[in-house]
Amino acid sequence: MPNSKITGVGMYVPEQVVTNKDLSKLMDTTDEWIIERTGIKERRFFKEGEDTVSKMGANAAEQALLRAGKKPEDVDFIVFATLSSDYNFPGSGVLMQRKLPFRQIGALDVRAQCSGFIYALSVADQYIKSGTYKTVLVVGSEVQSNVFELSDRGRNMAVIFGDGAGAVVLEATDEKDKGILGTKLHSDGRFAEELYLEHPGSRRKQRYSPDMIEKGELLPYMNGKLVFMNAIKYFPEVIREVLTESNLKETDLDLLIPHQANARITAAVQKEMNLPDSKVVSNIHKYGNTTAASIPIALCEAWQEGRIKEGDLICMAGFGSGFMWASALIRW
Ligand code: UT7
Repeated sequence: MPNSKITGVGMYVPEQVVTNKDLSKLMDTTDEWIIERTGIKERRFFKEGEDTVSKMGANAAEQALLRAGKKPEDVDFIVFATLSSDYNFPGSGVLMQRKLPFRQIGALDVRAQCSGFIYALSVADQYIKSGTYKTVLVVGSEVQSNVFELSDRGRNMAVIFGDGAGAVVLEATDEKDKGILGTKLHSDGRFAEELYLEHPGSRRKQRYSPDMIEKGELLPYMNGKLVFMNAIKYFPEVIREVLTESNLKETDLDLLIPHQANARITAAVQKEMNLPDSKVVSNIHKYGNTTAASIPIALCEAWQEGRIKEGDLICMAGFGSGFMWASALIRW
């Protein structure tokens, strides 16, 4: 059975930097509140007509392919994680497929929100381990800045999220002790409505109407405190679960790359797992929460900064809407 290994990482963030001060001109918030509650200083907002989820994904993918020494023609399959697809259908995977000279390969969209990248990676891992494909592109990309209202009523979520994309090339390898050692996936649908965007969904005869805009029903809803409490419970649990499966402990970890949801969540997980700053990646101050893109962006930056060396034990973990949570353990 082949193993699967990340051979290239890439990222793309839109040019426009939006600071907390910029947001405070549009809504009743302050730089101090945002930094104290979330650790975020700035985020990126996409430019209409220039950036789309599929295009940002393609930009990140191009960089990952270049670093892996691969061409788009070499890719056997695309797994694309996003909650903010360019169109309602088809998914962004196929829109990315046409942006680079890929063959007519399969493109699968994954909807698992903040855990989307780990879910996507686990799918790619299984295709490679089963021998179905040799080279798979795994992408996480999001445009979120246009789903929130930059106003007082939208402030609780608008200040947290940002736009961006990350990608990895996953390849088959014969090295038995390298690559993805394991993945763990969980969900608990009882909490679906604690962090969700109801409309335009298919439940109602009329998917949307003018009064929905007025009532704010086209805005996402988040029970921030409940999400927070569950995140700090399930992050350590799912990280320990994937380590235990490989007979490893948190003291064996060289680097933890958590989904960038909130600097306070990351700090709580770090404390619970007794990890020093040098072993935990946090870049939320620059990009906010980019949902499915946050883990591959953090991975890419850690790699660019020289924080990842051959043989390192790396754990990536996500938690978010669904609730869905997941982890992946990698021997680099
Ligand atoms: O990726 C997974 C997705 N999401 C998460 O992981 C989010 C998890 N939750 C959180 O990060 C935190 O719950 C938040 C950052 C969203 C909120 O922090 P909090 O400490 O739970 O604050 P809160 O919601 O209890 O709000 C405290 C106060 C409220 O005012 P009152 O009722 O005390 O007068 C809010 O109305 O802060 C107010 N508030 C704001 N003030 C200034 C809410 N949003 C803002 C804002 N600026 N943007």
